[in-house]
Order: sequence, then C-alpha cells, then structure tokens
Amino acid sequence: MSDTDRSHDVVVWGATGVAGRLVAAYLTDRYRPTDLSVALGGRNESRLDTLAADLLDRREGWDDLPVVLGDATDPASLRDIARDTRVVCTTVGPYTRYGTPLVEACIDAGTDYCDLTGEVNWVREMVDRYHDAAVAADARIVHSCGFDSVPADLGTLLVQSFALERHGVPCDAVRIYLESGSGGISGGTLASTAELFEAAATDPLARQALRNPYSLAPPGERSGVDEGMHQRPRRDLLRGEWTAPSPMAATDERIVRRSNALLGYPWGREFRCSEVISTGSGLKGAAGATLLTGGLGLFAAAMSVGPVRNALRRYVFPAPGEGPTEEEAESGNFRVRLLGRGTAPDGRFTVDATVGADLDPGYGATARMLGETAVCLVREDVDSPLDGGVLTPASGIGLPLVERLRDVGFTATVGDAATGNADGA
Ligand SMILES: NC(=O)c1ccc[n+]([C@@H]2O[C@H](COP(=O)([O-])OP(=O)(O)OC[C@H]3O[C@@H](n4cnc5c(N)ncnc54)[C@H](OP(=O)(O)O)[C@@H]3O)[C@@H](O)[C@H]2O)c1
Repeated sequence: MSDTDRSHDVVVWGATGVAGRLVAAYLTDRYRPTDLSVALGGRNESRLDTLAADLLDRREGWDDLPVVLGDATDPASLRDIARDTRVVCTTVGPYTRYGTPLVEACIDAGTDYCDLTGEVNWVREMVDRYHDAAVAADARIVHSCGFDSVPADLGTLLVQSFALERHGVPCDAVRIYLESGSGGISGGTLASTAELFEAAATDPLARQALRNPYSLAPPGERSGVDEGMHQRPRRDLLRGEWTAPSPMAATDERIVRRSNALLGYPWGREFRCSEVISTGSGLKGAAGATLLTGGLGLFAAAMSVGPVRNALRRYVFPAPGEGPTEEEAESGNFRVRLLGRGTAPDGRFTVDATVGADLDPGYGATARMLGETAVCLVREDVDSPLDGGVLTPASGIGLPLVERLRDVGFTATVGDAATGNADGA
C-alpha cells in the first residue's frame, strides 16, 4: 500500500492513558492539521471521544481529531490501524503484555512505529523475532523513545559524532550521569516495572536478557568488553564525585550498545558505556550514593518477591491510568551529562555533553521525545542508513531528533571538556 493511501500521519495508540494523552496534547499543540494529521487510538470509544472533544476545544486550527478503535489483544484490529497510518506511536504498556501484536501488525503493513518501552526483556524478544522481517518490510520499529533511552542514546551519539568530527576518532568510553531530575510517576510505568520483575522471576530468557550487557546486540554479537552495570556506590574517577547505580542503566546501556552495533560499530568494538546517578563530592556525596544504592536495592529486593510485588501493585502503587496531569508534566526538570574519553594521535581528549529540559522527564519531556520521533519518521527527517529493522533512537533517527528537541526547549550541548569549545544550545 502506498503512503498516500493512508488516512493518518500518526496514530497515538493508547491516547487515553497518562503518557498517550500528553503525546496527543503535545502534537496538536505543536502542529497544525495541515502539517500533521493525527488520530487518537485506543479501546474505549467514549473516553477517546471525550479526549478528542477536549483537545479540539483547546487547539486553534484543529476541527477534527479522528478516533480509531481496536484492542491490543485483537490482531485484526491492529492490522487495520497499522495499514491506515504512516506511523504508530504507542504508549500501550506494559509492552511485554500488550506490545507484540502491534509490532507484528506494523511490520505486516510496512508501517513505522515508535514506543516508550523500558522493558529490556521484551525488546530482546522483538529483536530476535522481528528484526529481519522489519528489515525486509522497510518498517522502522523504534523502541525506547522516551526518558528511557533518548537522553542516553542521543547524548552518546552527540558525544561520538563530535569526537569523530573534531578528533578523527570515537571515544572508547562514554559515561552517562543522571545529574538531577524531578518529576512524577504513573501507574502504567510502575505496572511495566512490575512486569519486568515478574518476567525476571519466571522466564529464563528474560533473566538472560537482564544478565548479558550485550543482550540487545544482533545475535552472534552478544559479547564484548563491558561487564555490566554498576551495582555499588563508587567514587567516579573521571569527575572525582560519588555515584550510585542508575535504575535506568539496564535499558539505557543496552540500547546504546545496540545503536553502536546497528550502525556498524562506528564507535569501535571495544566501546564501553555505563550509566550512573551523580550524588556529589565529599562525605555528603558518599552518604547520598550509599543511601540511594540501599534504597534501590531494597526496592529491587521487594519487587523480586512475588507476593510483595503483587501487594505493592494492589495497595501502594497508583493504578494504571493514574499519574501526572498535563500541568504537572510541564513542571519538573532533568539534566543528563555525558563524558566521553578517547585517544587521538595527538593525545587523550574528553568530550562533555548535556541533555536536559525544564519538564517532568518521564511525562512532559517524554511526550516531546516520543512525539518528535513520530514526526521524524513521518517526514523522513532521519539521519540513518537503516530503512527498516528493530531500531533505537540513535540508529533509527539520529541527530535530527536532537535538533527538533532543541527547537522545543531542550538543552543539548557538546564540546571538548578542556577547552569548553561547545556546539549546540
Ligand atoms: N520511557 C519513559 O520514559 C516512559 C515514560 C512514561 C511511560 N512509559 C511507559 O509507557 C507505558 C504507558 O504508561 P502510562 O502511564 O501512560 O500507562 P496508562 O496510563 O496505564 O495507559 C495505558 C494505555 O494503554 C491502554 N490499554 C490498556 N490495555 C489495552 C488494550 N487491551 N487495548 C488497547 N489499549 C489498551 C489504556 O487504555 P484505557 O484508557 O482504555 O485503559 C491506556 O490508554 C508504560 O509501559 C510505561 O512504562 C515510559
């Protein structure tokens, strides 16, 4: 089917959920219907109609927002949706539970796709089952286009592109520091976290995906020099500050390694990357790193025990559908810093990059990251040699997404650490 026969540029699939609503609100605020045709997708017609009416009420220039109905468990409905749009932008999670039939439908229809998953076990399954079919269908299946893993993945791409251009060689190691952040969390995100722990407890393949740092690399290329995520508080030698393990490292580091592999190893086969949380220097930094490591360890231990996990889901976590409001999503902030170290013929160098925004990282910022990924796919605004496959933000879209995020208020800077010779805003 030709692209001109399709009714929509983007279907926001899961538009009634916390993240989906924000993506729909963002796209209809940023674009006009003459620039981008958007449809709201989901399973509940009356809630979709209410959302459409609310957005039409508030958005100048929009007098129609079509609703498309389906169910994540009904493959025929997903095939119809995928055939009638250029891009499906999905926030229906947990993806381990609901995601696979939609990926299949998009490949079947040759439709591009982007999502917000941080479920590394599920991404591994998609890589193994569908990468070759997606390549053959020229369907770009781009995973992890939110706070997991855009800042880490595109931040690393920024560092490496700068290193290659300025120094002629890539950095052999990039460290990603979550420096600061403030924002909320939704029931859907916690349900997806619980799903990951459930899979780790019951599925040996999921455990393997979480154990092997290279589990998202192409089959046959799943080993390398990186030993896996940091598990303890550490004094970071690059910055002389304390760090704690990052809960997003399991996904972010593997996505970055997959980007390197899909792009043909432009950063080298010996490339290392790691992600940590910065807690500062001195005794305060050490105490912060110890407390954070302990807290994250306790959370992981509790989530690893089935009855405790179920009790937390039932009595403590917000329910799916609950989470930050549009107003709350517009407040908050995050700042991710990346340091890359490399060796050029004239000596060692360090590249310093930051990615950040004054928005809730998992919601306001994530809505822009996912929404702009969809727009890049619709408009072919990509810098990638790959026309199809199970891809990552850096390998499937690349630097055009950085430019778009800068245009909507994100900070994305890169330069030599020593000279402060920076590119970007
Ligand atoms: N990477 C990141 O930074 C990031 C940030 C935020 C969220 N996320 C991820 O995004 C996902 C969504 O999070 P959320 O907080 O938006 O969740 P949510 O509020 O629970 O929304 C889930 C959406 O899925 C829909 N849905 C559920 N079952 C369905 C089915 N069988 N058929 C069709 N639609 C179905 C729901 O529809 P109804 O309204 O009809 O129930 C709702 O629209 C989660 O996996 C979360 O981890 C990632």
